[in-house]
Amino acid sequence: MNPYAGRTERELAAAVAGWAKGLGPLVATAEEAGTMPREIFVELARLGVLGMTVPERDGGLGASAVAFALVLEELAAAWASLAVAVSVNSGIVAGSLVRHGTPEQRARWLPRLMDGSGVGAFGLTEPASGSDAASLRGSARRDGDCWVLDGTKAFITNARYAPCLVALLRVGEATADRPHAGITAFIVPLDAKGVTIGTPERKLGLLASDTSAVTLEAVRVGNDAVLGQVGKGFAIAMAGLDAGRIGIAAQAIGIARGALALARAYATERRQFGRPIADFQMIRFPIARRETELDAARLLALRAAWLRDQGRPFTGEASMAKLYASEAAQRATHLAVQVFGGYGYMREYAVERAARDARATTIYEGTSEIQRLVIARSVLAA
Ligand code: CAA
Repeated sequence: MNPYAGRTERELAAAVAGWAKGLGPLVATAEEAGTMPREIFVELARLGVLGMTVPERDGGLGASAVAFALVLEELAAAWASLAVAVSVNSGIVAGSLVRHGTPEQRARWLPRLMDGSGVGAFGLTEPASGSDAASLRGSARRDGDCWVLDGTKAFITNARYAPCLVALLRVGEATADRPHAGITAFIVPLDAKGVTIGTPERKLGLLASDTSAVTLEAVRVGNDAVLGQVGKGFAIAMAGLDAGRIGIAAQAIGIARGALALARAYATERRQFGRPIADFQMIRFPIARRETELDAARLLALRAAWLRDQGRPFTGEASMAKLYASEAAQRATHLAVQVFGGYGYMREYAVERAARDARATTIYEGTSEIQRLVIARSVLAA
């Protein structure tokens, strides 16, 4: 049964916020250990969060993109590593399966992305192909009834926890004028022979979120692994990223909100020169600016999500939200550390983690530079 049936988007987010408050010291312990306890996915499944974006006909909640953005903000305010795991699983991976999967593919994979046994992974980036996604080299070739997959996918979020990887691979040769032609999306079971998951990357932030390379060496899959049409994978990836970028905007907003809340509380209680530091304009005004930016970022993200819910184009708006929210989060977390002074630089204080976690949001799912490119294309004639 849908535990959220009849609830408003805000009520849904409030329920998740209530659950996230109970995470308590687990967050710091998991970040220190650099891994996420798998039981957390079971809890998220019980809450319905993993299947939020999946329609009810496929066993999900069928919640709106607005609701999902609000929920991701709550998760990120509590634990940014968890928010990115959910964003990739439910935004890009489940979202791509919902939009492009056959009934058989949806029946096979969606339950495993919703039941808490794991979270899905998305494989576009390669060691030599990042912003220029169409230059990817991983390949797929036909061999009788099978496809043979080869390549290395880099920086894959959730790789260790994922039942499957939606991997973008090239079928045939690229042409100079259409480098993305031939790129095809495959659903690769990660327990298939020939799949190797690398050792987890050691990162600046988001320490409990898994980031690993995935190598495919002569991995054999059937035709039922092709997601969408052969040669149409690049558009699937781009559409998946459009949705994913709203999720990263929401994640950045949650991180910034959490850091600013801590900074406000600390500024009110910390006394220097005989009074709370919140009395000083040089503390008050920067907080006012960053709070204003935070609200603006949230409105941009909710606009993009609302457009998506209306079935209207939202590519440029998702990039605007991701660009603005991720850069506002840098300023907000920088300020939070500054307000805390020496304490803010110490591991025991959550603002230190927020500053490290926020950094990734201007990079993954398209750097700020790529967001500007996408925005420019959406507002200017080619
Ligand atoms: N939706 C659907 N289709 C789209 C699209 C969109 N938003 N954007 C482009 N396309 C289609 C185009 O219509 C075109 O299709 P046809 O010519 O076949 O009709 C095709 O895709 C190629 O489009 P472009 O010529 O615009 O492509 P491009 O090579 O110039 O690159 C880009 C576009 C925006 C720079 C793109 O390469 C890009 O987004 N790069 C950044 C990659 C990225 O974000 N990587 C993140 C990795 S995933 C990650 O980080 C997840 C994680 O784990 C956290």
